Amino acid sequence: MTVHFKQDEPDTRNLLDQGSQGVIGTAMSRPEGLAKVTGTAPYSAEYRFDDCLVGVLVTAPFTKGRITGIDKETALAMDGVVAVIDDSRMTARPAQGGAGEAPQQSPRQICYYGQPFALVVATSFEKARHAAKHLPFSYEADDVSDIPLDPETAETEAGDGGMQAGDLAHAMATAEHAVDVSYTTMGHASAAMEPHAAIAQWDGGRLTVHASLQMPNYNISELADALDLTEDKVRIVSRYVGGGFGSKLGLSEETTAAALAAMELGKPVKVVMSRQQVFQSIMRRSESSQRVRLAVDAEGRLTGFGHEARVSNLPGEEFAEPVLQSSAFLYAGENRLLALDVARIHQMTAGSVRAPGEAIGMPVLEAAMDCLAEEAGIDPVELRLRNIPEKDPGKGLPFTTHELADCLKKGAEAFGWDSGPRKPRQNRDGEWWIGTGMASAARVHNVAEAKARVTLNADGTARVQSDMTDIGTGTYAILTQIAAEMLGLDPANVMVELGDTDFPRGPGSGGSWGAVSIGSAVVIACDAIRQSLAKKAGIDADDLKLKDGKLQGSQPRSLSELLDGGNMSEEGHYEPGDISDDYTSSSFGAFFAQVRVNRHTGETRVDRMLGAFGFGRVLNEKTARSQCLGGMVWCIGSALTEALHFDPVDGHLVNCDLAEYHVPVHRDVPDLEVMLVESRDPAASAVQGKGVGELGMCGGAGAIANAVYNACGARLFEFPMTPDKVLADMPD
Ligand code: MOS
Repeated sequence: MTVHFKQDEPDTRNLLDQGSQGVIGTAMSRPEGLAKVTGTAPYSAEYRFDDCLVGVLVTAPFTKGRITGIDKETALAMDGVVAVIDDSRMTARPAQGGAGEAPQQSPRQICYYGQPFALVVATSFEKARHAAKHLPFSYEADDVSDIPLDPETAETEAGDGGMQAGDLAHAMATAEHAVDVSYTTMGHASAAMEPHAAIAQWDGGRLTVHASLQMPNYNISELADALDLTEDKVRIVSRYVGGGFGSKLGLSEETTAAALAAMELGKPVKVVMSRQQVFQSIMRRSESSQRVRLAVDAEGRLTGFGHEARVSNLPGEEFAEPVLQSSAFLYAGENRLLALDVARIHQMTAGSVRAPGEAIGMPVLEAAMDCLAEEAGIDPVELRLRNIPEKDPGKGLPFTTHELADCLKKGAEAFGWDSGPRKPRQNRDGEWWIGTGMASAARVHNVAEAKARVTLNADGTARVQSDMTDIGTGTYAILTQIAAEMLGLDPANVMVELGDTDFPRGPGSGGSWGAVSIGSAVVIACDAIRQSLAKKAGIDADDLKLKDGKLQGSQPRSLSELLDGGNMSEEGHYEPGDISDDYTSSSFGAFFAQVRVNRHTGETRVDRMLGAFGFGRVLNEKTARSQCLGGMVWCIGSALTEALHFDPVDGHLVNCDLAEYHVPVHRDVPDLEVMLVESRDPAASAVQGKGVGELGMCGGAGAIANAVYNACGARLFEFPMTPDKVLADMPD
C-alpha cells in the first residue's frame, strides 16, 4: 500500500514523537561508517565486472567553435583501442538544466574550454588515456578576442529574485546612518573527493549504470531522455557517493558516454574523470560582484535594504547563482531593492555549488552589516537583533520557526562575545593582530517529493528502501533511526538500502532538502505499519507502544506473534503542498570567529570559531553537527583561500587541481564549535525539521572578514582575503 501525505498545512500529528525506542536525535554513528573507512564500501568506479572496457574523455583545447573532424582510424589503430564515441547524445549537459532542454546538445559545437567531445574506449585505462591524448582531430576556433569572457563587460540578462518596494534612494538620502558598499567574490569548485565516475552495462534490453550521482530519481529521466530510452529500460545504482556539493546533481559526460559506449560495444564500460577534468568540465560556482545598501534610523532599525548582484553563466544556461535568496527575508527595511543580473560568458558552466546563492550572498551582506554597525556605533549582535522582521518583509508571510535571535544570543554567550565598544587593532600577540567578528546564518528551507518503502519482518528486523542517496550527509544513519524509533527496534535490526532506481523514488540529495524529505516519507510508511499493528492488537494506535521488538503493555507481545510470522510492507509518499504559499521557511544560525592576522605578511589564521544553528528537529546529533562543521570549514576556505582563476585571454581554468585550488587543510582548521539550537517546526516537514546540510557555510566567511577588520584594520571588499590583499589594505 502507498500512504500519501501532502503538506498543505502544519503537520501537528508529530508522528516521530510517538516512537518509544529513544534513538531519534541521538548521536548514532553511521551504520556504513566501518565499511567506508575500511575501504569495503564500493564507490561507483570500484565495482568489478568481467571484460570491462575503459573510456577516457577528450576535451576541447579551445574556447568556442566546432570540431570539424575526428580521425577515428588512426585512433583505432592504436594498441588496445576498440572505439571512439562522438555521438551527440553524449553531451546531455547542462547538469542544471531540464532533461532534453540542454542548450549545448551537439558535442561538435564547443562553447567553453575543456568541454568533452569524444570518448576513447580501450582495453585498459593506460591504453585509453594514451589514445585519448593522441587522438587526431581538427577544429575551427573562434578568435578569442570576439568571445565574451569578462562578466563586467559582457551582455547581461535579468535573473530571478529581483524585487522593489518603496524608495531605497530616498531612504539612503534621509537615513541617520547608511552604508553603500560593493564586493567581489571569486568562483568556487565543488571539489568533491570522489571524481565523477560511471560503469555502464547493456544487456541488450536494459541499461544499468553504477554512477556517482546525487539525484538518481531525476538522473534516470535525464539519462533515458538523452539516450532515447524509456525509463523502465534504465537502472541507476548510486549506493555510496564521495561528496557531491552540487556537482553531481545532474548528469555529466562520464555517465552518458559510458552508457553510449556500453550500448554500442555490448560490454561494460567504465569512465572516470581525471581531477583536472572534474575541475574543468563539470561546473563552477559563479564569481560575483555585489552592491549592498543599508539605511537605518537613529535606533539602528533598517529603513532601506538594497542588495544587487551580478553573476555569470554560459549563454542559454538557465541557472543563475541565487545570491539574493536570504536577503529577501533576513532583515527588515520597508524600502527594498533586490536585483540579480547574469552576464553571458564562455567559461565552463556555472551551476549549483554547495549552498548556491547564500554561500556568497550571506558573507557579503554580513560584511556590509558590520560596516553599518561601525557606522551606527551599535554592537553587531545587537544590530542584527533589532532588525529581525516579524514577517517576511517582501512577501508579508509569517515564518515557520525562526531561530535567529536564539542563535545570536546563545552563540554570543557561548563564544564569550564582548558587546562593548569595538575598535580595530586593540589586541596584539607578537607579530599577530587578534580580533573577533560575527555574522548571521540563513539558508532557505526546501522540501521535495519523496517515496520510501518500509518492510517490517516477523523476526523483528525492518528494511527501508528508496533510490535516495547518502552523499556523505548521514542518510543511512537518520533513516535507520527514524524506522527504529517508529517501529520500536534496535537500530542494528534496521537495514537501509539506498541509491537504486529499482526502489521507490526518493527526493535526491540537494538543496538541504534530503534528510527531512525522505525522513518524512519513512515516517509516513512507519506510521501506516503502526496503524495496522494496532488494529491487529485490538488497541488504539495512540496507545501503541513498540520497544525492543515487542508490543509493550500489561501483556507484552512479540512482533512475530502480531505479524503471524509474515511481514508488513508500506510505501510512504511525502509531497510538498501549498504550505509554501502560507509561510516563509528558513534555517538560521550565527557565527562567531576569532582570527589573527600577521602584521608583516598579511597571513590570516582562524584561532577559533563557533556556530549556533537552528533548523527545527535534530534527527541525528552527530551527522547534523558534522554537516555544520563541514560548512564552517568551507567558510574558512571561501574567506581566505578558495578561488577559481580563469585565464583572461581564453577563459580556461588555470588552477584545476587540489594543489592549486586551495581548500583548507587540517592545519588551517582550528577547534570548531557547533551548537545546535533545537525546536520543532511542524510547518517545515513531517519530521518537524528543516534543512541543515548547507546552513553551516551561509555567512561564516563574513564573520571571518569582520574579524580580520577588527584585528588589523584592513576592511576588505574582495573574497577570498588572501595575504596580498590584506597586506595592501592594512594600515601601517
Ligand atoms: Mo546542493 S549545491 O543542492 O548539492
